[in-house]
Amino acid sequence: TLIAVAIICTSLVSIRVSAQENSDTFNWTREDVSKLTTSINNTAPTINKEELVEITSDSYIWDTWPLQYKNGLPAVVNGYKIIFALSVPKDVLPGKRHDSAEIHYFYSKDGKSWVSGGPIFKDGEALGSRQWAGSALINKDGKVHIFYTATGQKGEETITYEQRLATANAEILTTNSSVTFTNWSDHKVFLEPDGKYYQTVEQTSREESSYSFRDPYFFQDPKTAEEYIVFEANSAGALEERTCQSVSGNVENAKSYNGSIGIVKVVNDRFTEFELLSPLLEANCVNDELERPSIMVKGNHYYLFLKTHSDKFTPGLEAPEGLYGFASSTLVGGYKPLNGSGLVIGNPKSNPYQAYSWMVMSNGTVISFVNYVDVDGKTIEEIGQQAPDYQVEHFGGMLAPSLKLSITGEKTKIIHEKKQGVFK
Ligand code: FRU
Repeated sequence: TLIAVAIICTSLVSIRVSAQENSDTFNWTREDVSKLTTSINNTAPTINKEELVEITSDSYIWDTWPLQYKNGLPAVVNGYKIIFALSVPKDVLPGKRHDSAEIHYFYSKDGKSWVSGGPIFKDGEALGSRQWAGSALINKDGKVHIFYTATGQKGEETITYEQRLATANAEILTTNSSVTFTNWSDHKVFLEPDGKYYQTVEQTSREESSYSFRDPYFFQDPKTAEEYIVFEANSAGALEERTCQSVSGNVENAKSYNGSIGIVKVVNDRFTEFELLSPLLEANCVNDELERPSIMVKGNHYYLFLKTHSDKFTPGLEAPEGLYGFASSTLVGGYKPLNGSGLVIGNPKSNPYQAYSWMVMSNGTVISFVNYVDVDGKTIEEIGQQAPDYQVEHFGGMLAPSLKLSITGEKTKIIHEKKQGVFK
């Protein structure tokens, strides 16, 4: 049923968004998360910061993603592999990096040593006051589509947190020693929360710890060739309208936890027409922030992966900072948490913030970045209150050693650690 049509008009390109009801939202429950046990199969080896190498010495990087083909495989353009990462200069305090993030790119011929190409977008062209995570796609005709989060308002003096999904396209120019982007389109916002499936800023109250509508990830379903973008969101509605019937006992403030994974169908190749679907997954009363979702297909299964923080689970749930995943035989509905609870890779107890923002490549290699290491039992909040020197000394801001994962049916296992920056 066609229930709504919205038209967003930016820089002469109009974007059409219709909405489609689908009642198969998967609920990640407290019961699922309560099954969580940690073992060698889902605990990352400890990171030793002394042994690490940065891919750039001028800036911190965190959320990272490769240029990929529509089928999800990392692209090779005239011999170059290309990756994108959120970045700030090193004089920005690690805890403040989200306030001025921009997307930089790096390229490599051997897929091991990376050259920094600097900011991907031309000065002043990107939307928002800063740009957060996304994904990047190269078509057969060589056109590159970048999907990203436009956060805040361009030129704002005080930082705001509204987030929209934005896109721009370009072409790639390579020489023997360089990779550059050229022939840029205008940037345009292609999706904003609708308030029916996905919470708007206006529906979000102060008691809710976070608001999200971000991290667009492109996915083509190999079974149907249909294209989608999945993203991080919150379930729609105001706090007073929500209930937590599924939560037994008195879990403090459980109602304010409304993390969800959104999905929109791409209707045409120019990325100007979309059909908004109801959420793929909701963790209402369970978790408030389900970040950077991605989907891949292996064998008969669709795998949906996301990342979240320990303190985004409702009180009473003990779960590590980690990569979580779900498997189903269909793209929509029927998901089961991997390994019972959903936990795929967690940080070790002794180094609970060592890595974050894991991303699973289709060959089972998982990348992530080094967050805070060796923090002697301090919580992330306490780290933020430490002197700048402490934060800088304990923050990585670089790629973490990659991990190799085996994925079979609804079970996964960390097989071994690989070098930093390895996507294969
Ligand atoms: C995860 C994340 C993303 C967001 C970015 C902002 O590390 O929270 O969801 O796009 O960081 O810096």
